[in-house]
Amino acid sequence: MNKRINVILSCMGIVGMIACGGNGENKKENDTSKAANQNVASTDAAMLDFKSDGSKGVGPVSTIEHKAFDAQLANKGVELFVSKCAMCHNFERTLVGPSLDGVVKRRTPEWIMNMMLDPSTMLEKDADAIALSKDFSSPMISLGLQQEEARAILEYLRERNSASK
Ligand code: HEC
Repeated sequence: MNKRINVILSCMGIVGMIACGGNGENKKENDTSKAANQNVASTDAAMLDFKSDGSKGVGPVSTIEHKAFDAQLANKGVELFVSKCAMCHNFERTLVGPSLDGVVKRRTPEWIMNMMLDPSTMLEKDADAIALSKDFSSPMISLGLQQEEARAILEYLRERNSASK
C-alpha cells in the first residue's frame, strides 16, 4: 500500500516537473524570440535609411523625398538593374565599375540619382565622382534612364544594401 502511494506521488512529481519545466522553457523561448524580432526590426529600419548628409552631386536631382522602403518599387528596380547596370556592377566585387555594396551608406540618394541619370556631367564636375574615376579605366556611360526608373533602381540599391549586411 505504502509502496503504491510512493509510486503515485513520484509519478505526479515527475509529471509536475515536466509540465513546469516545459512551461518555463516556452516562456523563455517566447521572450528571446520577441527580443530577437525587435532587434531585427530596428536593424532593418536603420539599414534602410539613406545617407542624409554629404554631397548631392551635380545633375538634375537636387532633393529626394525620404519615404519608407517600398518593396514594389524595389522589384521594378531589380529588373532595370539587371538589364542596365549588372554588366558593370555587382555587390561582391569590382567589375567594370565598383561594387555597389553599401553604396547608399557612402553616397546620398541625390548623388546616386545624378550618377545614374547624368554620369558624364558627374564625371566632369563632381569632385567625388572625379576622384572615384581615377581607379577605373572606362567611365560609366549614360543609360538614358527616366527619373522614375532611376528612382526604382535606387530603391533596389537600398534593399540590397540592407540584405548584404
Ligand atoms: C559601362 C559600365 C557601367 C554601367 C553600364 C553602369 N556603371 Fe555605374 N559605374 C561605372 C564606373 C566605371 C564607375 C566608376 C566611376 C567612373 O569611372 O565612371 C561607376 C560608378 C557608379 C556609382 C558610384 C559608386 C560609388 O562607389 O560611389 C554608382 C552609384 C553607379 N555607378 C551606379 C550605376 C547604376 C545604378 C547603373 C545602372 C543604371 C550603372 N551604374 C551602370 C560603370 C558603369
